[in-house]
Amino acid sequence: MEKIILDVDTGIDDALAILYAIESKKLDILGITTVNGNVPLDFVTKNTLKILQLADRRDIKVYPGAEEPYLREPEHEYHVHGTDGIGNALDDMEVTMELEDTFAADFIIDTVNKYPGEVTLVMVGPLTNLALAMKKSPGIKHKIKRLVLMGGIVSKAGYGNKLPTSEFNIFADAEAAKVVFHKGLDITMVSLDVTHQTQLNMDHINELEGTKYFDYVKDSTEIYRSYGEKLHGKNECSLHDPLTIGYVLDESYVETVPVYVDVEIQSPLSYGQTIADFRGQLGKEPNMKVCTAVDGERFVKDFIDTLKK
Ligand code: BDR
Ligand code: CA
Repeated sequence: MEKIILDVDTGIDDALAILYAIESKKLDILGITTVNGNVPLDFVTKNTLKILQLADRRDIKVYPGAEEPYLREPEHEYHVHGTDGIGNALDDMEVTMELEDTFAADFIIDTVNKYPGEVTLVMVGPLTNLALAMKKSPGIKHKIKRLVLMGGIVSKAGYGNKLPTSEFNIFADAEAAKVVFHKGLDITMVSLDVTHQTQLNMDHINELEGTKYFDYVKDSTEIYRSYGEKLHGKNECSLHDPLTIGYVLDESYVETVPVYVDVEIQSPLSYGQTIADFRGQLGKEPNMKVCTAVDGERFVKDFIDTLKK
């Protein structure tokens, strides 16, 4: 089983990614690290613990991470994920699971050192924890197997979800992304270019009826589906973060190309833009694979089938 560390800013779709990873039963989840993002860190961490309780996986340890971005001020997404980050779907659930004491960046360093070349980092929030880990321990870059991240947008200018050309995870900590992108890691960036083609609607959710996840998925995605309706007229939501898990489980869901990507950190108009040099005009070696196409339907079906099991 592939060893992963899952880094989250839970988040409605982060929660779905956690459930998908767990229920796939194909991944060895060494730990979950949390980061400031969609909502402040305390909410992120609490939501993550609640999701593990819902899944009855109290054995998976949760490590609290960065409370603030690398340099910039925090930016949150309450209008997408609700005031608590998971659409207030688990308001009545008490958190009884314990949080670990170890800081997320230290957990990443320790784990990668323990299993050199074996650990895949799946990061579906701002990249702050990894930037901090690499600042503290630059040598881990040789020991990380690969990084699969949800973030960015490279081919559909004007369709960003934060600025016309910027995606939230990168925008929320563009400096951290810049640090991470240039360390020579094996990176796959699962961007809005493909995640916007993975839409979950009520027909899919109704298939979960009778499972322990039906009420939660229906309730938590309500605000998120309404947001989708406002954007493009359909009551559905993107499975951004679950697609990173999908990619780790089965790379054939997406097509990728190697390309050099950098992050804009100065322009107020395009702060957080991921600029992909498809024509090699900058004369730089590719530093990641970006996704150019996705079989969204097959992926969404597997996501639902997995949660149904
Ligand atoms: C990303 O931003 C967050 O709102 C989601 O959780 C996802 O990780 C999509 O741009
Ligand atoms: Ca996220």
